[in-house]
Amino acid sequence: MIPNPTTNAEQILRERYYLRDPKGVICETAHQLFRRVAEHVASVEGADKAVWTDIFYKTMTRLEFLPNSPTLMNAGLLNGQLSACFVLPIDDRLEAIFTTLKNAALIHQSGGGTGYNFSKLRPKDDFIGSSGGRSSGPIAFMKVYDAATEHVKQGGKRRGANMGILNVNHPDIEAFVVSKSDGAQLQNFNISVGITDDFMKAVEKSDDWELVNPRTQKVVKAIKASHLWDTICQEAWKTGDPGLIFLDTINRNNPTPHQGLIESTNPCGEVPLLAYESCNLGSLNLMKMLKRENGKVSIDWSKLKNTVQIAIRFLDNVISVNHYLLPQTEEKSTGNRKVGLGVMGWAELLISLGIPYASEDAVRLGEHLMEYIKVWSYETSKALATQRGAFPSWKQSKHASHSPLRNATCNSIAPTGSISVIADTSYSIEPLFALAYKRVGILGDTTQTELNSVFVQQMRQMGYWDEHLKSEVLKTGSIQHLSSIPADLKKLFETSLEIPWKYHLLHQQAFQKHTDNAVSKTINLPKSATVNDVSDSYLTAWKYDLKGITVFRDGSRQRQVLQHCSLN
Ligand code: CDP
Repeated sequence: MIPNPTTNAEQILRERYYLRDPKGVICETAHQLFRRVAEHVASVEGADKAVWTDIFYKTMTRLEFLPNSPTLMNAGLLNGQLSACFVLPIDDRLEAIFTTLKNAALIHQSGGGTGYNFSKLRPKDDFIGSSGGRSSGPIAFMKVYDAATEHVKQGGKRRGANMGILNVNHPDIEAFVVSKSDGAQLQNFNISVGITDDFMKAVEKSDDWELVNPRTQKVVKAIKASHLWDTICQEAWKTGDPGLIFLDTINRNNPTPHQGLIESTNPCGEVPLLAYESCNLGSLNLMKMLKRENGKVSIDWSKLKNTVQIAIRFLDNVISVNHYLLPQTEEKSTGNRKVGLGVMGWAELLISLGIPYASEDAVRLGEHLMEYIKVWSYETSKALATQRGAFPSWKQSKHASHSPLRNATCNSIAPTGSISVIADTSYSIEPLFALAYKRVGILGDTTQTELNSVFVQQMRQMGYWDEHLKSEVLKTGSIQHLSSIPADLKKLFETSLEIPWKYHLLHQQAFQKHTDNAVSKTINLPKSATVNDVSDSYLTAWKYDLKGITVFRDGSRQRQVLQHCSLN
């Protein structure tokens, strides 16, 4: 239920979500926040408005489902912008570049994040006809975007997030790959190389790879594909950037190819979108989908189905009540009506069921669970289409050979960076980061050490919890070194860095199989991981048909939001 005042949830709600009066004083409670959101989202329900307000309100206050942050922050406000995810075009004209920058600033201010593909920009030092001068190139313009982002806070509360993509055949790709190498530049960007299948084949065969000027379509240089690959992996090993996005995999799965190619995703990668499209997300709290019978814990499938049905209806309503900042975004977003329902609390659900994350059983269950969510998401979208009509571009879409759907996409696995704190559960489909950790930055400038409550509860139940265990876990964040703990319990409580990266990828694959959009997942690697491990994981991601991949080697960036407590 609703958080009590001492929890992280209440703290984050106070810092970022509750409405404030003109003097900046908080003027709502968690109940009032969820009531405000429920009423606004149910306002399209006509005669059934009161019924749906009540259903949405209860689902949120029980923390069974939460929408993305902008919906929680802005619903019910005049001109409330409710989506977290946007992609904007970057065309090769100065005016277009700065128009998009202005639009990005407006989106950031409303709490949304923006992704862009910079590959249409002519390379650095290329010819400019109008001035006879030389061009600055994509990386220079990314720096302009980065500086602007630094100063436009989302809803006055957090900095905006950007995804910057450059395709692997752009002449500036080598500079792009190392553009975050110094740890100082482009800090408001995640960067990803836009990878094609041809490039991956060239890497495998050690072939040459041609770089093409997007202005002239002429080949300007040929490089060794494997050399570029090595630099990408080396940089990702060093800094976590660049990630990869697999453009061909994304476009094979594009539900509306008649509207053009998808060239970018939103900042965290869970939604591939067309230029000017937006998507609103929401996540099911899997820890609320458990039942206990005769002392045995299992998944409550009928509650899960019921919650999926409520959540998809909620997310579809958001499209109708949303205030769109740009006419192009309104047209695209209401034409395709994409939504992204995902999950949080996966790691804690597995622990509650006694299934270790690094096991075949966990991967199989993930695939089965996501398939179930997908099936009921689509059934709900179908039922909504019968009541409300199919999404306007349905007839030209890939879905046209099946029954009408209300939404061109239904599912995304988002990182749930803030809403899982509100729901008091583990992030998205990530394993527990540590059993005790210092959370830096997310709650203002405070730093505090926390113990994972599911871990403490289980240890108590099994009779292992004592002062010695507590102090060891507070010191190290782990139980792997403790001889007093049996092997099966150690296995159950393996954390991100103790879990082999292959299992991180297997979980991403399991969920991606039944997610029409994409899965945002960090493949955590221990400090000792090699560049070869990065290369292996990137190659495996392509072979697994993932839409993108991000790795993060422990300690490779100066500042992490969640730090393993032994590092402090
Ligand atoms: O938990 P919350 O709803 O705040 O967000 P998330 O699941 O961590 O991230 C979902 C999406 O919200 C990201 O992919 C971005 O598009 C956007 N986002 C953002 O714009 N700015 C942030 N600081 C965090 C997320």
